[in-house]
Amino acid sequence: MVSQSQKPFVLWFTGLSGAGKSTIATAVGQKISEINDRVYLLDGDGVRKGLCADLTFTDSDRDENIRRVSEVAKLMVDSGFIVLAAFITPKHSHRQQARDKFQQGGFIEVFVDTAFEECEKRDIKGLYKKARSGGIKNFTGIDSQYERPNTSEIHIKTDGINVEQCVSQIFNYLYSKEYLKHQVSKIDITSYV
Ligand code: ADX
Repeated sequence: MVSQSQKPFVLWFTGLSGAGKSTIATAVGQKISEINDRVYLLDGDGVRKGLCADLTFTDSDRDENIRRVSEVAKLMVDSGFIVLAAFITPKHSHRQQARDKFQQGGFIEVFVDTAFEECEKRDIKGLYKKARSGGIKNFTGIDSQYERPNTSEIHIKTDGINVEQCVSQIFNYLYSKEYLKHQVSKIDITSYV
């Protein structure tokens, strides 16, 4: 296992619920762990069971959610971890708040751009259906706004491409900007499906 001496960073995945943020982040984390064992995934579904279990989905609670998780991500990056953070992070202000905690170049925003219609069609957790019937309030894309990012370092248009291709797009960026030096093994989609 090579522990790289290069600077750690956070990859901050933003996008709608069901867009594929955690799936792609998990796959990226698996690949990075081949060359660096200090990599950690933080995601909305995880932290909202513990650290942020007291928070709802109002604008102000989302603000607090992002404040807490970006502080945790910052502590981890400062201690040498590569952090993969997967949160809807719906507003420009939320993403800016997170970005501002990191040094120049230490925050890489990844917009997982999956159409709302596609996320609703997938409805993996059944939440879109519940939100449509009024069972969940403040649901992103239904009665709570998602502001499309326009300054993301990486913009993944997932329509028509598979997880492997999304992961490759991220690695291409990380290598071209010299965030990573050692090559990971070939990206193999079968381990993520
Ligand atoms: S964020 O807006 O504060 O960044 P976060 O990423 O932590 O959201 O949580 C999103 C996850 O919570 C979704 O993937 C979904 O599983 C669940 N969820 C439950 N209620 C809502 C809601 N009202 N809006 C969006 N996601 C919700």
